[in-house]
Amino acid sequence: MSSSVSRRRLLTGAAGAAGLLLIGGCSRDPGAAVAPGSDAVRRAEGARTTPGGRLVSAKLTARPVALDLGGPIVGTWAYGDRVPGPVLRARAGDRLRVDLVNQLPAETTVHWHGVALRNDMDGVPGMTQDAIASGGSFRYEFVVRDPGTYFYHPHVGVQLDRGLYGVLIVDDPDEPGRYDAEWILVLDDWVDGTGRTPDQVLESLGGPGLDRNGMGHMAGMERAQSALLGGAGDVTYPHYLANGRVPAAPVTFTGKPGRRVRLRVVNAGSDTAFRLALERHRMTVTHSDGFPVRPQSADAVLIAMGERIDLELTLGDGVFPLVATAEGKSGLARAIVRTAGGRVPPASQEPAELERQVVLASQLRAADAVRLSGKKVDRTLDVVLGGSMMPYRWTINGKTFPDTEPLGVEQGERVRLRFANHTMMFHPVHVHGHTFGLADGGARKDTAVVRPMEILAVDLDAGNPGQWATHCHNIYHAERGMMVALSYRQS
Ligand code: C2O
Ligand code: CU
Repeated sequence: MSSSVSRRRLLTGAAGAAGLLLIGGCSRDPGAAVAPGSDAVRRAEGARTTPGGRLVSAKLTARPVALDLGGPIVGTWAYGDRVPGPVLRARAGDRLRVDLVNQLPAETTVHWHGVALRNDMDGVPGMTQDAIASGGSFRYEFVVRDPGTYFYHPHVGVQLDRGLYGVLIVDDPDEPGRYDAEWILVLDDWVDGTGRTPDQVLESLGGPGLDRNGMGHMAGMERAQSALLGGAGDVTYPHYLANGRVPAAPVTFTGKPGRRVRLRVVNAGSDTAFRLALERHRMTVTHSDGFPVRPQSADAVLIAMGERIDLELTLGDGVFPLVATAEGKSGLARAIVRTAGGRVPPASQEPAELERQVVLASQLRAADAVRLSGKKVDRTLDVVLGGSMMPYRWTINGKTFPDTEPLGVEQGERVRLRFANHTMMFHPVHVHGHTFGLADGGARKDTAVVRPMEILAVDLDAGNPGQWATHCHNIYHAERGMMVALSYRQS
């Protein structure tokens, strides 16, 4: 909790935050920070508002629950009594109003991952709002402009690694809908209530009882070597879940042979990338992080923490495991796809497709409609990712949040973020409030993997004023410092 205390101090010390900006390493004289509650933020929201938009209301109650994972019963924190939490669904142009009631014994917030929303509703304590106290509540209200598959989760500590997550879908009223059914698959790595809480895991990292995945786990180590992203995360998990269930008690999706299915996949894991395949099927990737890509066929896809992928499938005849292996680790999550009678395959069965054509988000191309324009880059910002295991700390440009120097930008600029990974771990970097483009017409995304020792440049249009968290979506890395503000300044 000590870090949330210091973040709150940062928020109340508004003058202090402005002071930090003044010593930022930019050649031009930076203006004052554009605050979450500023006119610029209200104007941007006004521009997103469309006359035909409806009001979509929901209530989320964050609270402690006893949860059945399909065998193991765990004590955890969830939105309501299920994990994942309720699916929230709106149409592009609608206004979403969500009342969060905090019945947790801790403060919390809700962040709307991937949504380009108004800054003061982004849910980052110390940056866009005060944390919601235990027993308190908060009304989130914002217009959703861009269709896509999103999710929501707290932005306090390592609460995401409990059961606090759910899917938010923004439907596109203009989409043809070339599929007969839609399924939602949420993947997660699970430890809470199995003897340790995520907070205890965080404390143990870098300590003498090193929780480093792979060390002392030969099987894990071999897998780590073949991992496509490089590295395998820091935490060893007892369970991997698909829609809240362990592999021995999977959820079943049913359909008819020959039907076309849209599968929306969210990786809500905190420290695990997944490799996903459906046995004896090929799939077509249609969206990455909610935005359309040129259709790309694949046997398997890789999906890092915080990423979403939409797939289309044509169902075969039979009973098929839909398997997500923990990349570089031992273990898997799975669901069952059933279009005929027959037995459920054993929980350990891995589709051969997992080792065939595996598509990574970095290989996708943006659909023409969402390709970034050819505008020239106005500002390039270097974001060096560093860190160490002992002590366990992760840095941006040499500092840990909240001491990281904000990345100053001005509204209207084309900004290039150059992430340089100086570590031997992969980091899925996530930018709030924006969707960036990968180089040379690559996919539009809000979360992208930077592999060990790699430099990844992404471009974005600074069109959503405010203060935006930018961080690694390995939640243990973010909590131990790998976070910075993308900070709009007055021009
Ligand atoms: Cu999914 Cu800053 O978050
Ligand atoms: Cu990281």
